[in-house]
Amino acid sequence: MKMDKGRKEKKEFFQLNRRRFLSLLGILGLAFISGKSDISIASAEKEGKMTYQIKDYNRLLGMEGFSDTLLKNHFTLYQGYVTNTNKLLDSLNHLLKEGKTATPEYAELKRRLGWEFNGMRLHEYYFENLGGKGGIDKGGKLVLKLAESYGSYEAWEKDFRATGSMRGIGWAILYQDIFSGKFVNFWINEHDVGHPAGAMPILIMDVFEHAFMIDYGLKRADYMEAFFRNINWTEVEKRLLLHKG
Ligand SMILES: [Fe+2]
Repeated sequence: MKMDKGRKEKKEFFQLNRRRFLSLLGILGLAFISGKSDISIASAEKEGKMTYQIKDYNRLLGMEGFSDTLLKNHFTLYQGYVTNTNKLLDSLNHLLKEGKTATPEYAELKRRLGWEFNGMRLHEYYFENLGGKGGIDKGGKLVLKLAESYGSYEAWEKDFRATGSMRGIGWAILYQDIFSGKFVNFWINEHDVGHPAGAMPILIMDVFEHAFMIDYGLKRADYMEAFFRNINWTEVEKRLLLHKG
């Protein structure tokens, strides 16, 4: 039976899984309140306005210390961030074109963009700095740079692990300040809050519970051990080329 456009969009909406539904509830609540069908979940996909592409990290499956179940769940979560980033950008663009920037809908979607965009990008950095073997080159440029900032590589690693061990959920991120060249480990509690302006993310460790609880329960230290065994230091060192330090 042929379904009209409105009914089809509603059907697609209710077919979303629960997690995706919850993450989008706030955004869509505004959309439904406003009565704008062009801010619906289906619209961005239908109109093909997917600015950012979902990256494939299946190469990480089988990685020692990370079950496929955990990784596949994590990939799904990441994919949601990419999808939502595209939808937000599309919705904001529509509101701009319609001259509706001075609206609560515009403001709330704009606020949400930092969360979804960084959720996408931080996961890409995270997955891309995994899958390595062999450990860091102790005579390499990164080790020397970390020693300049922390006194030694070992002191940096101790601080990075301590950052990742902090109570709460978030990210441990080694940043390099592009102006001073200095390296600093940051705790990022929320994707969109607390990032140092103008700094380059060098190494990223996800310590949200979804990153480890399936495999390690509450033993975050064991997860961090596995993380360190699988850091792709070659990829991490490439990030140093992106700035002056
Ligand atoms: Fe994550």
